[in-house]
Amino acid sequence: MGDTSDLFKLAGRVAIITGGAGFLGSKHAEALSEFGCNTVLIDVNAERVRLEAKRIGDACGTTSIGIDCDITNKTQLEKGREFILQKFGRVDILINNAAIDPKVDDSGENFSFGRLEYFSLDQWSLELSVGLTGSFLCAQVFGSQMAKAGKGVIINISSDLGIIAPDQRLYRKLGLPEEKQPAKPVTYSVIKHGLIGLTKYLSTYWGDRGVRTNTLCPGGVYNNQPEEFVERISSLIPLGRMATRDEYKAAIVFLASDASSYMNGSTLVLDGGRTIW
Ligand SMILES: NC(=O)c1ccc[n+]([C@@H]2O[C@H](COP(=O)([O-])OP(=O)(O)OC[C@H]3O[C@@H](n4cnc5c(N)ncnc54)[C@H](O)[C@@H]3O)[C@@H](O)[C@H]2O)c1
Repeated sequence: MGDTSDLFKLAGRVAIITGGAGFLGSKHAEALSEFGCNTVLIDVNAERVRLEAKRIGDACGTTSIGIDCDITNKTQLEKGREFILQKFGRVDILINNAAIDPKVDDSGENFSFGRLEYFSLDQWSLELSVGLTGSFLCAQVFGSQMAKAGKGVIINISSDLGIIAPDQRLYRKLGLPEEKQPAKPVTYSVIKHGLIGLTKYLSTYWGDRGVRTNTLCPGGVYNNQPEEFVERISSLIPLGRMATRDEYKAAIVFLASDASSYMNGSTLVLDGGRTIW
């Protein structure tokens, strides 16, 4: 009988993490590296992605590389793939994590930003180009490689707001007229729901080629949000709190490794129970 802990081992595998310089992307990369995986962090933030990759490689003793690459640009992604194949000869895991998530503007100054009535087409296109088109392109460029090799894992990072609609009461500001009330933009809902659709599509498209695709839906993470917001959102979560930055690491390892070998097309929700209420 095999040792269950062996199922989580990632030594010798190669993972690509988009948005790897960001708040959670760097944690996803760290988690995989801690289990022996070599990681390639992709981000448009050239300086930070190199720093994060170095930090992770030094801490874990794995090879970790930061690549300055825009996931909306297929040519750049193909160059990235060539580089990775030359360096490692394989691609095992893709985490579609990159996003442009503008913070809700609660000043009332820039009220037109988040509100549907005024939401600009440029902003809509920009956010969708990263969150959805970028994820599609990464699946096309790296997923095809996995299908060719007959093995691979794709993880799409959605959100609790990929399952439920944003509760706009969370963002309300006392004293502002209705048309100036801050709102979570429509793009977030559309992208996060869309990624669950992308997962289902890929899971059936490449399932018989050995490529598994699943979605992770994280809930909100503490990140110096105003106290009033933290209190309000915590009251909507059965566990009574937001997540800490490290609380998705084990789920990422589970999804990326053979521990989840029979999981395909599914949604793993880690939200403190928010979507149950
Ligand atoms: N932080 C949270 O509380 C939370 C909760 C639920 C879901 N999520 C999701 O988790 C993911 C990561 O969130 P985060 O908080 O780390 O965000 P973040 O803004 O810190 O990181 C996103 C990263 O994506 C990069 N990026 C943007 N455009 C890019 C492009 N064209 N090509 C390559 N990289 C690009 C950015 O430079 C940034 O480093 C997002 O998909 C987000 O929606 C976050």
